[in-house]
Amino acid sequence: MTSPAHVAIIMDGNGRWAKSRGLPRVAGHRAGVEALRNVVRAAPQLGISFLTVYAFSSENWSRPKSEVSDLMGLLKLFIRRDLAELHRNGVRVRVIGDRESLQPDIRGLLEEAEALTLANAGLTLVIAFNYGSRDEIVRAARKLAQAALRGEIEPHMIEAEDIAGALDTAGIPDPDLVIRTSGELRLSNFLLWQAAYSELVFVPCYWPDFGGDNLAEALRDFAGRERRFGGLSPEEAVTPALAR
Ligand code: FPP
Repeated sequence: MTSPAHVAIIMDGNGRWAKSRGLPRVAGHRAGVEALRNVVRAAPQLGISFLTVYAFSSENWSRPKSEVSDLMGLLKLFIRRDLAELHRNGVRVRVIGDRESLQPDIRGLLEEAEALTLANAGLTLVIAFNYGSRDEIVRAARKLAQAALRGEIEPHMIEAEDIAGALDTAGIPDPDLVIRTSGELRLSNFLLWQAAYSELVFVPCYWPDFGGDNLAEALRDFAGRERRFGGLSPEEAVTPALAR
């Protein structure tokens, strides 16, 4: 089976998982961190090289203060508790999203995780934190406009690769597969540029219930898809010799 090199996940449904058990929302997020741990352990065994997870969106600030603070606390705990294991397992951590508006302690922890694991050659775990795709594209446009003002680039020479190189995901291949849990059928401002040709798999279970088996099943679904990237399937495509 051909495994996707890059899988991106919208980890949705923590709140509903908690509600269905009569628990506070924070319990759902805690269980969500446990599911994340399991999936990070399972991913390399399934042939995945890049795993991107949507941990906190730029729109999540509009949640009640207490929930925002719970999510910030869980990220801190995750980095403090799991960084040593991630490093031991050769995981390289990358963070995408706007860092400027994060509290200095959170920003420091994220940067520490990136610096410690920079030379690791195993799974690349991309944590999307304070991330929103439109915000990322706006920041990239500003970078390119500033480079043009400095005379470093000509506006009419800007190509898709220049935009890709100015995004937070520079150097990371586009996701082959985007998975969203909890039955919602949306991308919610996640990797809008990068997911142009990604296969999408929507699974009904809430994120805390998602594990290695669900990931393997999503990969089987992916393996059955025919990716054409805007072209034709091999049997429909006319070879250049015949076309002449
Ligand atoms: C969506 O569930 C999930 C989030 C907003 C946050 C995702 C966070 C985690 C999985 C745990 C935190 C991980 C780290 C590393 C910080 P929801 O709250 O929108 O669920 P609902 O739609 O059922 O209410």
